[in-house]
Amino acid sequence: MKVISTERSQILAARIAKALDTTVVDVQFSRFPDGELYLAAGELDDETVIVGSITDNDALVQLLLLIDACDTSTNRLVIPYMGYARQDKRFMAGEPISARAIAHLFQRGVARCITVNIHDPKVLRYFDVPTSNISLAPEIGACIKSMDLENPLILAPDDGALAFARDVASAGGWDCDHLEKTRLNGREVKMAPKKLCAASRSVVIVDDIISTGGTIATAAGMLYRQGADDVYASCVHGVLIGGAYAHLKANGIRDIICSDTIERGCSRITAALEVAAALRSG
Ligand code: R5P
Repeated sequence: MKVISTERSQILAARIAKALDTTVVDVQFSRFPDGELYLAAGELDDETVIVGSITDNDALVQLLLLIDACDTSTNRLVIPYMGYARQDKRFMAGEPISARAIAHLFQRGVARCITVNIHDPKVLRYFDVPTSNISLAPEIGACIKSMDLENPLILAPDDGALAFARDVASAGGWDCDHLEKTRLNGREVKMAPKKLCAASRSVVIVDDIISTGGTIATAAGMLYRQGADDVYASCVHGVLIGGAYAHLKANGIRDIICSDTIERGCSRITAALEVAAALRSG
């Protein structure tokens, strides 16, 4: 068995290979003069683990090409970050169900698919091949533990993210709550923990994705006004578009932690061990 990856997921792929005690395949990536993507995979094995986060459209095409390049082997596909998964239903007439379109694209040529904290696990029903979705909540919990915060409050940005925040909080037996939005008037909205008080506490906001950072930056401002000592942000997928990291820092977030499902300077948690465990089990 060997591990092969798109350009965007090479560090995680190497970590997965190490955890599985195997090697990565050398791949050449380039472009044709018209901008089309090209790749050439090195020597393959009979079994291949293909790793590729769908972080943007080039990554999506590269992953498609990589699966095709591996058509002589039995493949298992790891999609650490599945982009397009948030458009998981038709919110308005005329829209695609993008998550379904992606699932249909990526099951040809693979025997099994593994995702990591997919935005909504219900999306997995769109795959016809066996799937599993792993959670990095224990790893985020362990990372928070290593920060030695005194009695931190773990906060989900909304009630939809509460189950994930509870799993993170259980790593340290910490308090957990979710933010609730109250409309004060036509222009103003207040965000505060639903049940607990943030005053004089270190608060860690946990979410599956930080995209623009807007949700967490707004929440942090409110939490500081409510007397929080420090606010930290943690997520699995650091999409971090449009200067999100700086936006969060400028809004008083003390530290930002994310995993290597998207490879960033703040990727302090690896999905490799959980992915390797899932691959070992089938
Ligand atoms: C939304 O459903 C996700 O779970 C995140 O809460 C969202 O993507 C965060 O977006 P942003 O960082 O742009 O506020």
